[in-house]
Order: sequence, then C-alpha cells, then structure tokens
Amino acid sequence: MEDIIVVEDLHKIYKMGDVDVHALRGVSIKIKKGEFVSVMGPSGSGKSTFMNILGCLDKPTSGRYLLEGNDISSLSKDELAEIRNKKIGFVFQNFNLLPRSTAIENVELPLIYNDIPSNKRSKLAKDALLIIGLEGREKHYPTQLSGGQQQRVAIARAIINEPSIILADEPTGNLDTTTSAEIMEIFKSLNKDGKTIIMITHETDIAAFAEKIIVFRDGKVMKEKWRGMEGLHEPVSSL
Ligand SMILES: Nc1ncnc2c1ncn2[C@@H]1O[C@H](COP(=O)(O)OP(=O)(O)OP(=O)(O)O)[C@@H](O)[C@H]1O
Ligand SMILES: [Mg+2]
Repeated sequence: MEDIIVVEDLHKIYKMGDVDVHALRGVSIKIKKGEFVSVMGPSGSGKSTFMNILGCLDKPTSGRYLLEGNDISSLSKDELAEIRNKKIGFVFQNFNLLPRSTAIENVELPLIYNDIPSNKRSKLAKDALLIIGLEGREKHYPTQLSGGQQQRVAIARAIINEPSIILADEPTGNLDTTTSAEIMEIFKSLNKDGKTIIMITHETDIAAFAEKIIVFRDGKVMKEKWRGMEGLHEPVSSL
C-alpha cells in the first residue's frame, strides 16, 4: 500500500509572549493508506499538536507534510480548509456536537459547507446514522443522547463527506468500558472499509485495536510498534 501521510522533521513552536513552547521537535513518520494507528504518550508530549497538523487545523513551524503525495506544508489557510473538508473526518473526546442542533442536523453540517442540496443532505445523514447504529434518534438533541450515542453522531458527521482519513483525539476518553468497546468496533469496521484511522489514546487496551502504535515523548517519536502475527512485537503493557 502507498503512503497516505508522510511527515519529515516536523517542528512546532507555540509563541506565548516571550516564551517559546517547543511542542514538536523533529517528528518523522509514514502512515500507509488503510492503516489503523494509535498514538500514545504522556500528557504534553505533543500528540494533539501532531494530530492538529495532520488534520490541517494548524501548520508546522518547519518540516514537510505530504498528504497523498502532495506537499501541503506551504498551503494557505483557505487551501488547507478545503483539503480538511474533503479528506479528513475528526472525532474528539468531548464529541464537539452543536448543542442546539439535532443529531441529524449535526451530521448534515459538513454537507452544508459543500453545497449539497437539502433533500440529498438528509438522505445521506440518515444513511450515516443508520450505519453507525442510531436510527430512530435523528431528532434528538445532544443532551437527549447518552455519551456513546453522542460519539456515534460525531462519527457519522466525521464520515459523511467520505474522507479517506479519520483522526480521533481520545474518542473513548469520556466513555465507560463497554461503550468504549462498541465505539472501537465502529472504528474497526470503518478501517475494514478502507479508511485510514489515526487515534490518540491513553488506554493500552484501546490502543491495541490498532495495527501500529506510535509513542510520543517530549515532542518526539520515542517508539513505533507493529502488530505481528503473534500480536504486537512488544507487549503493549510495556509502553
Ligand atoms: N495552542 C497552544 N498554545 C501554546 N502552547 C500549546 C498550545 N497547544 C499545546 N501547547 C503546548 O504544547 C505542548 C504539547 O501539547 P499537546 O496538547 O500536543 O500535548 P498532548 O500530548 O496532546 O497532551 P494530552 O495527553 O494532555 O492531551 C504542551 O506543553 C502544551 O502546553
Ligand atoms: Mg491532547
């Protein structure tokens, strides 16, 4: 499989008044199309910073980022937004749903930005809610849904534009064990359908759903591990 993401020597420095925070210190990584990757590491090690750059939400201070072979390091904010909307779906720990919009309206949102007509929008959103197992909840507001159901709505919203990449920042961080496992089954089946998934997690049993684990420390990649025939080459618990 070809590489869908290649980053070379990424650095990110946040300027906070007089202080520079060096959040990424030379990250080089390749991710293949269709891979399921977990990102782990201590708090403050640069995981979300890395994810935000992959998702075109932020730009690196230096370094190269090739997405599907195109160098996007030097694109403008508008050009990045266009790529983000077409190629990337986001899932967050706190779901990030609009509180005054129903489940189906939340799922339709990315289609509105893409000028899809309203009848086609509701059909696509209904289908997406069906795929992730939430039929019958279209008219519910986020507060009327459980955490797991809200995350399902967020996943439906993330896949509605048929992105090739799904980025998830601690998607099970606010969910109990059983619900987390259900959400991971959804990610697994999306991955089976060909989506590339990159997921940050603090939990080793959640990370183990991926075929590769990247471990960050102090803004650098400390380790990469792959799942071998006999499981991961090193026990996940040793991370
Ligand atoms: N917008 C920002 N402005 C300034 N500094 C930031 C910003 N975002 C992150 N940082 C700093 O960059 C470093 C890396 O933060 P990041 O959020 O990437 O860590 P993380 O690995 O995702 O941590 P966590 O597991 O707690 O979510 C931290 O020192 C953080 O304080
Ligand atoms: Mg984070």
